[in-house]
Amino acid sequence: MQEKIQQLIKEVESYIVESAEQLDAYKRKFTNKKGIITDLFKEFKNVPREEKRTVGQLLNTLKTKAQEKLKEFQAAALANNTQEDRPDDLTLPGDAHTLGARHPLSIVLNKIVSLFEKIGFKVAEGPEIEDDWHNFEALNFPPNHPARDMQDTFFVQRNPDWLLRTHTSSVQIRTMEKNQPPIRILSPGRVYRNEAISARAHCFFHQVEGLYIDKDVSFADMKQVLLYFAREMFGDNTRIRLRPSYFPFTEISAEMDVSCGVCNGQGCNVCKYTGWTEIMGCGMVDPHVLDNCGIDSKVYSGYAFGMGVERIAQMLYKVPDLRLYSQNDIRFLKQFEKIQ
Ligand code: PHE
Repeated sequence: MQEKIQQLIKEVESYIVESAEQLDAYKRKFTNKKGIITDLFKEFKNVPREEKRTVGQLLNTLKTKAQEKLKEFQAAALANNTQEDRPDDLTLPGDAHTLGARHPLSIVLNKIVSLFEKIGFKVAEGPEIEDDWHNFEALNFPPNHPARDMQDTFFVQRNPDWLLRTHTSSVQIRTMEKNQPPIRILSPGRVYRNEAISARAHCFFHQVEGLYIDKDVSFADMKQVLLYFAREMFGDNTRIRLRPSYFPFTEISAEMDVSCGVCNGQGCNVCKYTGWTEIMGCGMVDPHVLDNCGIDSKVYSGYAFGMGVERIAQMLYKVPDLRLYSQNDIRFLKQFEKIQ
């Protein structure tokens, strides 16, 4: 056994490694758990007592040497690698990295958020899988109420009470349940509706909704904020108009149009010759909704509004087909690099 170990020590000392494969072979033979050194340590218990001391010392020498050698090989391999990676001519120009661009919907969403942040709105977020209470019932959609059909819903099979949120108004409920006024929030996010996919509709899209609750908040306050938004977003000459509408959670409710930026309100094929494009729903929060969330509707009032990000991006960039946003075609996405 002594002789065998001495032989191995010599072998380790003169071992040469010239490639990654050879380094692997070395490890397999000597330093791995299943290598020869482990075997020798196992055999050690059978060594006669009088030889134990010498054999033990030899074995330890072999082990240390083998490990030192391994470190040497690894250090050499590392040095070699970095040398290979180095270009021969250091004055050559580098490889250009292709930079990614922000997705058009992110550009538009960020812009909307920053415009409202400037006037004191804070972002609030909520889950995309919602329960019936936050998405519908607290917002004045009673069970079986026909208004639920305004938003075709995806339900979660495992639990009939769960669904994919159809609007981010659910975040307004969550915020009002936890906070007392003044509340001034913006809830951007993805929403889902069970629509047949076409150039004009998709089964998911993005919304930004706003909510402001305080004492003495009026419809005129809302109008002024929305006018500010429209002008910042579409240009100083933009005009807005509010048309009466219906949403279960606002009373009174309206839809807001902006003057068409292409023809400046004169009428063209983009605005279907009306001079106007609809961009959002809005209204005064129904007192019943405030009470549902534990906010005293005799003391507080407020407004809410909600808009589709795809729609606004479409107006700004003249995107002809909604599906383009989610097809991940680099040729489409690249065009927005310069706009941000
Ligand atoms: N939640 C409405 C929708 O998704 C939009 C809206 C928000 C309308 C707030 C009025 C007030 O269609």
